[in-house]
Amino acid sequence: MITITPETTVREIAAAEAAAARVFESFGIDYCCGGRKPLAQACGERGVEAGAVLAALEEAMQQPQPDERDWSAEPLAALCRHIEDTHHVFTRSEMERIQGLAGKVVARHGADRAELGEIQERIDALQGELLPHLQREELMLFPYIASLERTRSAGETQASGGSVRNPIRVMIADHDAAAAEMAAIRKLSREYTPPQGACPTYRAFYAALAEFERDLHRHVHLENNILFPRAIALDEA
Ligand SMILES: [Fe+2]
Ligand SMILES: [Fe+2]
Repeated sequence: MITITPETTVREIAAAEAAAARVFESFGIDYCCGGRKPLAQACGERGVEAGAVLAALEEAMQQPQPDERDWSAEPLAALCRHIEDTHHVFTRSEMERIQGLAGKVVARHGADRAELGEIQERIDALQGELLPHLQREELMLFPYIASLERTRSAGETQASGGSVRNPIRVMIADHDAAAAEMAAIRKLSREYTPPQGACPTYRAFYAALAEFERDLHRHVHLENNILFPRAIALDEA
């Protein structure tokens, strides 16, 4: 268990404590792309009491977490497989479902609610960025990390040592771009709040977007805060 102070960065806390992600979600604190900030600063920018967040973190850390594996200790190949089998599968299927919902909601309500068309455009942009990104991870980066781990554990050195930083930098930039689209969607939808009396499809659309964002945060957290730093450390060991 790590000692958390106001100076500990959000990403250090999220990487060390699986339960922290839920706490950060509940306070609206960005623990993936914006996670490089010290806790006190992140709380200040979000307008929440650092003391309240610290108390919630401490409480969450006391609770047993039977369903969450500690990915800071598992093999990297297993972590890559977990990311693909859960987050990549979810991202692909949900993007398609969300686009279907967006089409229906825009057709029915787009004339009255100008933000809906803009949200739909942002979703298309997000999909255009995320799908090739998932493929680059699955076809290039993840297999490279797995082979790096195999050769390292066999005691061999890989000729291309030190080169994993570049593809990782590109992946992190993709994550930042996706986070920016998602933040714009959140704002346009007033934090995924449907208007009063909205139809079930409208509600389902916003609920799906909120769930998609939660999953994206967990997904990017596993990559930015755990997988990538561990791969770089292994590559440069
Ligand atoms: Fe990914
Ligand atoms: Fe990624």
